[in-house]
Amino acid sequence: MSLNVKTQQPVVISEKTLARVAELKSRFPEGKHKSALLTVLHEVQDENNDWLTVDAMDKIAELLNIKPIEVYEVASFYSMYNQKPVGKYMFEFCRTSCCVTRGAEDLIEYTCNKLGVKEGEVTPDGLFSVKGVECLGACGYAPMLQLGDFYHEFLTPEKMDQLIEDCKAGKVEKLSKV
Ligand code: FES
Repeated sequence: MSLNVKTQQPVVISEKTLARVAELKSRFPEGKHKSALLTVLHEVQDENNDWLTVDAMDKIAELLNIKPIEVYEVASFYSMYNQKPVGKYMFEFCRTSCCVTRGAEDLIEYTCNKLGVKEGEVTPDGLFSVKGVECLGACGYAPMLQLGDFYHEFLTPEKMDQLIEDCKAGKVEKLSKV
């Protein structure tokens, strides 16, 4: 996976996030602050349009006093971290066995065609992107996708049409209240 160039987006890390990072670090002994990395990546990504520039990852390394490569290797391993811009609504389709057996690949192709993008691209209006990910643990509800904190299950082309329309109308929640 290639990393983005450094200058695509200024890094935003608010006082609130800095305080959260300090609190997370306090849970671990000196020299073990890397243990907070997954959570810090989430916090910083949430504050930076749902993706992480190299600058953002370098800042995280600085905050946790670890090497930048330690941040890059974790951020590039897990699909929940993005190294390039994503749409406001990112459809993360499971493309593991149960979902594929139940038509996930056709559904991904249908959705990409409908939105006029390839996987990993963002629609010109910035609203949508499509990503294939590994099993999301909802195999009994295949095919399914994750959108923010929520799962959308037993998907069909008709359900995708409706979901896209609802997103455009601002009717779709991405973040849980918990
Ligand atoms: S195979 Fe799709 S959620 Fe597990």
